[in-house]
Amino acid sequence: MSAALGALMARGTALLGSEVAIICGAMSWVSERNLVSAVSNAGGFGLIACGAMTPELLDKEIAATKALTSKPFGVNLITMHPQLMDLIAVCAKHGVTHIVLAGGLPPKGSIEAIKASGAKVICFAPALSLAKKLVRSGVDALIIEGMEAGGHIGPVATSVLAQEILPELASEVPIFVAGGIGRGEVIASYLKMGAAGVQLGTRFVCATESIAHPDFKKAFIRANARDAIASVQIDPRLPVIPVRALKNVGTEAFTAKQREVAQMLDEGKVDMMAAQLEIEHYWAGALRRAVIDGDVENGSLMAGQSVGMVSREEPVAAILAELVAQAETALEAS
Ligand SMILES: Cc1cc2nc3c(=O)[nH]c(=O)nc-3n(C[C@H](O)[C@H](O)[C@H](O)COP(=O)(O)O)c2cc1C
Repeated sequence: MSAALGALMARGTALLGSEVAIICGAMSWVSERNLVSAVSNAGGFGLIACGAMTPELLDKEIAATKALTSKPFGVNLITMHPQLMDLIAVCAKHGVTHIVLAGGLPPKGSIEAIKASGAKVICFAPALSLAKKLVRSGVDALIIEGMEAGGHIGPVATSVLAQEILPELASEVPIFVAGGIGRGEVIASYLKMGAAGVQLGTRFVCATESIAHPDFKKAFIRANARDAIASVQIDPRLPVIPVRALKNVGTEAFTAKQREVAQMLDEGKVDMMAAQLEIEHYWAGALRRAVIDGDVENGSLMAGQSVGMVSREEPVAAILAELVAQAETALEAS
């Protein structure tokens, strides 16, 4: 890596313990032992997506990942998981060095429990006010993710979040920018704005080492940016977090699912928390059907707008090398 890029990434690499400050964002079903170890072995930073896994399954996944890499990697936990504290304990048992908390503000005691285990805690900050609050709660780093990203998304674009949050907080805590990143030039520009590094998901789905079904990968390679659309909320009472995915038959099925859950809510069969969990379980199942079974018609093809820049299957090392080379060239030219 060039001295200029190394200097801009220094805070990120120091925090992560990796060679480059590029995180492969956790992707449910995709970010398992093979992709995570491949990313970390190639000098990036891999994250296991715990998703809806039980503590027993997470235990096995961490052990299997450790068998494939001696480099640092982290675990992404969803704050809504009913066994969050048990999952933190599993990570602590394995000496996991970094935990990312995703999907809402961390519940009371979770940040403290992670810190007590010696691990670093990284949280998603959807807005400046929340970012400041998280910094006060003692998080070690933040991820700011814009609505261009694949999977669950917030309402604000990456470019706007970066302008709002980096100038205010980049000097206080390392910040990683995510959402819509497909090339190294934009990585260089976020680093120059004060980011410590970046997180990419969509670009890594078609890595040779990713276990995603060949048909899932083909759909990514074929797709253009405009095919990755955000889901529509059909009932204002049911605050469904939008999901960005490639449009297919499953997109329509989600509309029907929302109606079904809204009706259950009306009839008092479920409370709001249970209704939201029902929706999250739906996504986990739909994503599994597409990623693992290859049902690209009915399953969920979660993808970010950067999918238009995914043009072939290639090893993780090649993806990282290309991103680094593009960032270096951009810095030389500036
Ligand atoms: C297929 C897929 C599944 C994802 N699953 C998760 C997840 O389980 N937890 C999470 O925090 N983020 C998840 N994400 C978001 C990624 O970790 C990452 O932040 C995002 O992909 C970055 O934006 P990009 O897609 O534009 O690169 C997922 C993204 C994709 C494409």
